[in-house]
Amino acid sequence: MIRPIMKTKQKTVFTCQSCGYQSPRWLGRCPDCNTWNSLVEEFSSAPSVSKAGPDSFRVEYSKEKPQPLNAIKTINEERFSTGISELDRVLGGGVVTGSVILTGGDPGIGKSTLLLQASDSLARDKKVLYVSGEESIKQTKLRADRLGSASKNLFIVSETNLDSIFDHINTLKPDFVIIDSIQVIYKEDLSSSPGSVSQVRLCGQELTFMAKKSGISVFLIGHVTKEGNIAGPRVLEHMVDTVLYFEGESQRSFRLLRAVKNRFGSTNEIGIFEMTGKGLKEVSNPSGIFIEERPKDVSGFAIVPTIEGTRPLLVEIQALVKAANLAVPKREARGIDYNRISLITAVLERRVGLEFGRFDVYVNVAGGVRVVEPAVDLGVAIAVASNHRDIALNPDCVVMGEIGLGGEIRAISHIESRLMESQRLGFKQAIIPKGNLSAAGKPRLELIPVSYLKEALEAVFRH
Ligand code: TYD
Ligand code: MG
Repeated sequence: MIRPIMKTKQKTVFTCQSCGYQSPRWLGRCPDCNTWNSLVEEFSSAPSVSKAGPDSFRVEYSKEKPQPLNAIKTINEERFSTGISELDRVLGGGVVTGSVILTGGDPGIGKSTLLLQASDSLARDKKVLYVSGEESIKQTKLRADRLGSASKNLFIVSETNLDSIFDHINTLKPDFVIIDSIQVIYKEDLSSSPGSVSQVRLCGQELTFMAKKSGISVFLIGHVTKEGNIAGPRVLEHMVDTVLYFEGESQRSFRLLRAVKNRFGSTNEIGIFEMTGKGLKEVSNPSGIFIEERPKDVSGFAIVPTIEGTRPLLVEIQALVKAANLAVPKREARGIDYNRISLITAVLERRVGLEFGRFDVYVNVAGGVRVVEPAVDLGVAIAVASNHRDIALNPDCVVMGEIGLGGEIRAISHIESRLMESQRLGFKQAIIPKGNLSAAGKPRLELIPVSYLKEALEAVFRH
């Protein structure tokens, strides 16, 4: 009897590209992370992790016995300077051996440039393997020439297959590996395409595993989606030791490198760079650079001394309030949390009596900086009110303070260093929360302590 050849159907599974959740059928919204339209069909052929990776990196699970914690000898982690002090600062004082560092950022922001520069200086003492999956060796060489790289211990390979990368690592035995980028690396056992959650997760897992086992430090470069997350792998952020984000506008020359997770140092530390014709240069006195272009005698601007990590940074808050064209007025925020704008306009409406129901409100932090701390609230409120009433602020005045729903101005941290920095940059007056007055020290600025938003607005518009 002749039997028809039955085509075996390959099993597929739908994977959420945002969190990695898997479902046997398609769903419009991921039930785990609530992202819409994020499920993508993939072949379900995930190999078990224990089988993955070349032999030399396989763990022998049975050998590790639990030990009492106090019997384990403390060893200080070994750190290496990248030769770029702003990068070292963000890493918490250099790269820790065997650590995995994920660097994310928009395309063209300078991730490859930064890591090639760091590789070059690391390669003066150590061996570095730069895996360029996105660009050819020639392209990387051109870039390296432009940056003036010359270390002979810096090795480049253009490769995207993870197992071949492991082979190169095994033969070369480098101290540092740079993967540019994790989204183009793939593992052959998996049928899903490079960049999918399954691929990124598995490749990330194996590289992390290799780093821990061998003491090789690994830098992963990751692309960022439109929403600002590192594409696909939220899973990857949990896995690695350090997550750095490169921020800034690619058309402007300043770049901020921010640590959002760091197992070996403090987060919120930032590094500031300037993109020049010869790569990224460190900015050693960054505090004033974001306020240089501020217009004077124009309404809608306020200067706020913010604290980034351990250092003060003066930023310019810009606001524009205009009559709304649509029934629902627009609120737009750049460099600051959107919800804070809604909250601050609500407080201005209820506690000060300014009307926003028929006005669009736009708020922007100049220079592509992102500010997360609440000390910026008062600056936002004052910039918005200033534009709404079309009264310009005293250009020599800085403002700071958190706003509560009652319209009260709450005390903030690091008041003294904020004031010192403002004074250093030539400001003559500061509006501060009353609760901070005793901690403010004796700066040469004129201090105006305020308890309520209304009081603060009266004080700034008196001029
Ligand atoms: P790149 O590092 O390729 O960005 P990413 O890897 O994050 O995608 O940066 C590319 C941009 O930087 C590109 O627009 C050119 C610019 N650039 C300079 O201005 N000066 C330089 O010395 C280099 C190498 C790049
Ligand atoms: Mg790149």
